[in-house]
Amino acid sequence: MAESLLEVKDLVKHYPLTQGIVFRRQVGAVKAVDGVSFDLRAGETLGIVGESGCGKSTVAKMLVNLERPTAGSILYKGEDLTKLSGRALKAVRRNIQMVFQDPYTSLNPRMTVGDIIGEPYEIHPEVAPKGSRRQKVQDLLDVVGLNPEYINRYPHQFSGGQRQRIGIARGLALQPEIIVADEPVSALDVSVQAQVINLLDRLQKDFSLSYVFIAHDLSIVRHISDRVGVMYLGRIVEIGTDSQIYNHPTHPYTQALLSAVPVPDPEARAHRERIILSGDVPSPANPPSGCPFRTRCWKAEPRCAAEVPLLAVPEAFPSGPAAHPSACHFAAEKQVVPQVPPEGPQG
Ligand SMILES: Nc1ncnc2c1ncn2[C@@H]1O[C@H](COP(=O)(O)OP(=O)(O)O)[C@@H](O)[C@H]1O
Ligand SMILES: [Mg+2]
Repeated sequence: MAESLLEVKDLVKHYPLTQGIVFRRQVGAVKAVDGVSFDLRAGETLGIVGESGCGKSTVAKMLVNLERPTAGSILYKGEDLTKLSGRALKAVRRNIQMVFQDPYTSLNPRMTVGDIIGEPYEIHPEVAPKGSRRQKVQDLLDVVGLNPEYINRYPHQFSGGQRQRIGIARGLALQPEIIVADEPVSALDVSVQAQVINLLDRLQKDFSLSYVFIAHDLSIVRHISDRVGVMYLGRIVEIGTDSQIYNHPTHPYTQALLSAVPVPDPEARAHRERIILSGDVPSPANPPSGCPFRTRCWKAEPRCAAEVPLLAVPEAFPSGPAAHPSACHFAAEKQVVPQVPPEGPQG
């Protein structure tokens, strides 16, 4: 097994909830991320999936140091990023870059494409001395499938898919090892999603990149992920290889998410079990006691309100495809295996 590039341990981000204008006082906290652990191995893609508001972007921002964790550690090749500062942090930061969700708002409309893609060189001039930057940026445009002559154009002159290619080129500018892609295709038309995913796939091979690929839909990450972590209310509730998660899910939430993935084959559609979750995701400012999923879970029992289930391999499954970490007291019970199409978005 390849070495771990990143090791995330018990990562927590609580945003204080305050009240009062003159005398501000803290009345609680939004538990956006509440104890997340995973590792990222060299050359792999780890998909992170979960509904809107479950903390995916907050994890992404902490990985690239846009947010400081409340607690926990992020080890990059054994070095804790949360304890670094100044030059040491800057040097490490270069290796972990982000691609943002919305290519319509994440690119500065007043900057040319050349300035947007080349901006990281202002902070890291050692990667590309001034005289070589224009050529570097043109090479990057070419690498992401855009005409290098577009270098002086502005973001509004491009389509959504092309803008996301610009965002990806910018992410590549500093030759990082890790790209954290936060729902990179969610804002794009379905017809364009597959093209951008194929581009990311090719870039990964060409530049030996490791990806943390975030999505709210299990069908999108399937195509690109080696392993998948499923998040619910600030925690990872199940994590495993592609085949473990899609064919042998043991957490009821993963099973429900899978049952909602569209199935193109009418025959398979008729035979699968559809799980409809009741209610909404609870507020991260006031999460349920015990298991965070229990208020929407059809397997929930009194034990689930009293005891937080740990993310661990179920004792009943020491080996086999179900032997992967799952945070459910009843992970070893009746398997629901919804039918899933073998591929991600069609293109
Ligand atoms: N800066 C912030 N201040 C307060 N709450 C925040 C902030 N950023 C995110 N949150 C809250 O944290 C939770 C997780 O948000 P986020 O990480 O954006 O979720 P996701 O990316 O999975 O949709 C949400 O309830 C969100 O409202
Ligand atoms: Mg998000």
